[in-house]
Amino acid sequence: MEPILDRISENSNHPSKGTITKSEVLTNGVAVVIANSQLGTIAVTTAIYLLSSGDPRCFRRLVNEVRSAGFQTEADIRVDSTQSLPYLNAVINETLRLHHPTPGSLPRIAPDGGIMIDGHFVPRDTVVGVSLFNIHRRPENFTSPLEFHPERFLSKEDERYDLSLANDRLDAFQPFSMGPRNCIGGK
Ligand code: HEM
Repeated sequence: MEPILDRISENSNHPSKGTITKSEVLTNGVAVVIANSQLGTIAVTTAIYLLSSGDPRCFRRLVNEVRSAGFQTEADIRVDSTQSLPYLNAVINETLRLHHPTPGSLPRIAPDGGIMIDGHFVPRDTVVGVSLFNIHRRPENFTSPLEFHPERFLSKEDERYDLSLANDRLDAFQPFSMGPRNCIGGK
């Protein structure tokens, strides 16, 4: 935050060019601290917890995939070089499905005149929201929804794919939300 803090405007009503108001710092601070750093940290911690407390086959599959990827040094492990590791990506997705780091309901306010949502009229100013945590754990959407099965996110051609998970509704998995306010840090 340091470069930003140096540019706080003296006059918050008339900030000059190249400065930022205190309230802008506070709002953006929430985005930087909570959105950018907390969620990733929670996701990684949760993945390690799920891998070490669940079926040891998941852990072994991940270790095998990462160790056969040909990384020689830490610098070789980058966003682009890890995209092609299907089991790693499946573990990340399954972690975000089972324990989404933002378990709130992502609230929105119904506009003037109200709005129809899924066949129901919602009057203006009503706060509505969707809980990803809930949707990701619904039995209508996922087989054995409370169990950790990264395999559900593999392609059907992958030899590690589990056919018993074939009825999963993967389109119900939206960890970065949808629409104009979705996550800028998502894929
Ligand atoms: C595992 C990591 C992350 C998850 C699960 C996640 C999830 C989300 C979700 C669900 C939203 C939508 C909130 C809503 O609809 O009200 C969101 C918004 C946002 N995310 Fe993330 N996020 C993650 C990482 C990041 C990162 C790394 C950044 C920064 C580069 C970031 C920046 C933001 C910002 C600024 C918004 C607000 C967008 C707006 O309101 O227009 N997020 N995030």
